[in-house]
Amino acid sequence: MNLSDATQLLRAEALTRYDIYRWIHKALRARMCRVLVAVGGIDVSDGPATARALDQLDALLAVCRGHLQHENDFVHAALEAAQPGSSADAADEHVDHETHIAALAAASAALRREPAADGALRLYHALALFVSENLVHMHMEETEHNAVLWRHCTDAQIQAVEQRLMASLPPAELADTLPWMSLGLNATERAQLLGGLQQAVPAPVFETMLDSAMAPLTEPQRTALARALGRAPVPGLVMC
Ligand SMILES: [Fe+2]
Repeated sequence: MNLSDATQLLRAEALTRYDIYRWIHKALRARMCRVLVAVGGIDVSDGPATARALDQLDALLAVCRGHLQHENDFVHAALEAAQPGSSADAADEHVDHETHIAALAAASAALRREPAADGALRLYHALALFVSENLVHMHMEETEHNAVLWRHCTDAQIQAVEQRLMASLPPAELADTLPWMSLGLNATERAQLLGGLQQAVPAPVFETMLDSAMAPLTEPQRTALARALGRAPVPGLVMC
């Protein structure tokens, strides 16, 4: 796919209709890119740093597994109800992704057992290919799947699918995703996310969430978020 095709595939409704994919896919793209850099930085002579990078990779793989399941269970069900067969290609790709996730997890475990420079390089390239497949796959979902949803469903119906999906998630999974979503979103979206959470949860819970959302941001991003929430700028926090 060339850039021109990709741009043309983004539909005119992309900024006016409810996009069930946008925020979670921005979170996934941010996380995949950061973890790819971390795995590229593995130097097996540094055992603790290697372990930390592999921990990040294993956590990413667990998130990817969960994401496939959530899309299969909720979004594909909605797509099939709207237009039978419309999720078939993505479902096939999800099966491939599960195979690739298992292979990456095995390679990560092997590198932990036996740190070797060639194993680290192979893992980095395998992860890069996995990330590239996922970037193309997510673009397909955000164009082709959204076209089906927007043609057949109202925004309220799409949001109801998302609410059912969100209600199925354990709190630990939501907490794990929050800093990556905060990192991936733009300032307006980030303020909308945290503003919504502020309305939805008790104040002490929100304070923990806000710390987590602030952690991966730059100082200017933290200042902008604090201002958007009507707060004084927050002193520097440690990068996640
Ligand atoms: Fe997917």
